[in-house]
Amino acid sequence: MPRPVRVVAGGDGFPLGPATALDAAPGLTEVAAVLRGALGPATGCDFPPGPGGIRLRIAPELPAEGYQLDIRPSGVNIRGGSAAGAFYAVQTLRQLLPPATLRRARLPGGPWTLPGIRIEDAPRFGWRGVMLDVARHFMPVSDVLRLLDLIAFHKLNVLHLHLTDDQGWRLDVPGRPRLTSIGAWRPATMLGSRQHERYDERPHGGFYSDDDLREIVAYAAQRHITVVPEVDMPGHMQAAIAAYPELGNGFAGPVRSSWGISPHVLNLGPEALQFCRDVLDHLCDLFPSELIGIGGDECPSVEWRDSPVAQARIRDEGLAGPHRLQSWFTARLAEHLAGRGRRVFGWDEILAGGAPPGAVIAAWRGAGPAAHAARAGHAVVSCPDTSVYLDYRQSDDPGEPTPVGTCLTLADVYAFDPVPPGLTPAEAGLVLGGQANLWTEHMESARQVDYQAFPRLCGFAETVWGPPGRDFDAFAARLPAHLTRLDALGVNYRPMTGPRPWDARPDAPGNPRTIEDRLAELREMTADLDQASA
Ligand code: ACM
Repeated sequence: MPRPVRVVAGGDGFPLGPATALDAAPGLTEVAAVLRGALGPATGCDFPPGPGGIRLRIAPELPAEGYQLDIRPSGVNIRGGSAAGAFYAVQTLRQLLPPATLRRARLPGGPWTLPGIRIEDAPRFGWRGVMLDVARHFMPVSDVLRLLDLIAFHKLNVLHLHLTDDQGWRLDVPGRPRLTSIGAWRPATMLGSRQHERYDERPHGGFYSDDDLREIVAYAAQRHITVVPEVDMPGHMQAAIAAYPELGNGFAGPVRSSWGISPHVLNLGPEALQFCRDVLDHLCDLFPSELIGIGGDECPSVEWRDSPVAQARIRDEGLAGPHRLQSWFTARLAEHLAGRGRRVFGWDEILAGGAPPGAVIAAWRGAGPAAHAARAGHAVVSCPDTSVYLDYRQSDDPGEPTPVGTCLTLADVYAFDPVPPGLTPAEAGLVLGGQANLWTEHMESARQVDYQAFPRLCGFAETVWGPPGRDFDAFAARLPAHLTRLDALGVNYRPMTGPRPWDARPDAPGNPRTIEDRLAELREMTADLDQASA
């Protein structure tokens, strides 16, 4: 899982044993190390270098992320279009063995035999993403690395790391010590959705050192995952403004403890702009990704109406009003990133007033904005909340933890198609792929992230890997075997029978919505885009 494009099973397989050799072509030593690390501990095989066992080769005629895997009694032959393709063949190999081989230590059992099979496989999309929000709840590095392993196991290849928000700032920036001494900590945390007005009394926080982030990037790269960092600007900035009030419009208060959208945004004066450039420079130093996330979602312009700094900017730049300030700002960030050979990655709100050329759009407000972005000539990553927001509840069972958003069952996620209807072939070609988003307001630990992510992320992986026209019943029939793999990997997935009694969060009540209500809200939220394209 995700289901390979072409599988021909049959014939005798290949027995693994302590003498099974591994013959990796020069450019595949890292993939060989991954194979040894993944299969060695549980099988007891060291895979010494040499011929006659598993053979890893690059076949440039294959799609870059594609591979062929041929298992027969004489050996295992892996050909990858690139190291990424060979890496995905190794992930498939892991799934062809019994789940016990996925564990981190040896159990009684074996010897293990790989089944006779021939697989030809390649992904439909180049962007198979997961967004993790480490701002609402900080996640220790070890948990992020574990999530990277699980992402890679499902052949996903982008981690969009949402590093800052109103409720916490999670990275060090040179010369700005208060971002982490003040901005990384909040005094309390809201429990459940806003309207219940419940809080715990525990401070929450944490941040990543430069070396933490370098480790995440390097660990991801070994697994052929690109980490796309995001610092959300100019809204969702209350944590930074709590640390440096001069960046705001008069707000002097703590990091936000409640959910929802803070009205306290950057003032966009010279100092705030320099701050953003410094932050982006630091992201460029730490993250090799060509795309750098600038956020841009949900920025209220209310404060700008009465802010002398914002008004001076509006006057100096001859802007039509506060509603034009954000697109002016986004253009400046795009210029700055271009100077470093990078490009803007932003939420679909940056389409309002025109996004900078070359900006890649994360289209989230329902299914509409992906089409708007493509029609405006932007490359786009589809992540509509109505299909792939994994913080939304998985069923209408009253035992679901903190039920928010619309009901997104496994079947709903499986029905997702990154390419919205009605696009020309050229516009459809601008859809880079899809992304499942893990907003963590209501997930305070990796255990809860597991619950929300799995098994829906398994279904999502098929929507971005396999050809269109998938069959949910066939997927559901393959899923129980896959869940035994997740068991071996120690994943706290949602059982198919529904939440367990201790998954419920009566202390953190939610706010379940109907799809009809949400669609009406989205129509209103994206009316400006509709008007612009009309
Ligand atoms: C978002 O969900 N605010 C991008």
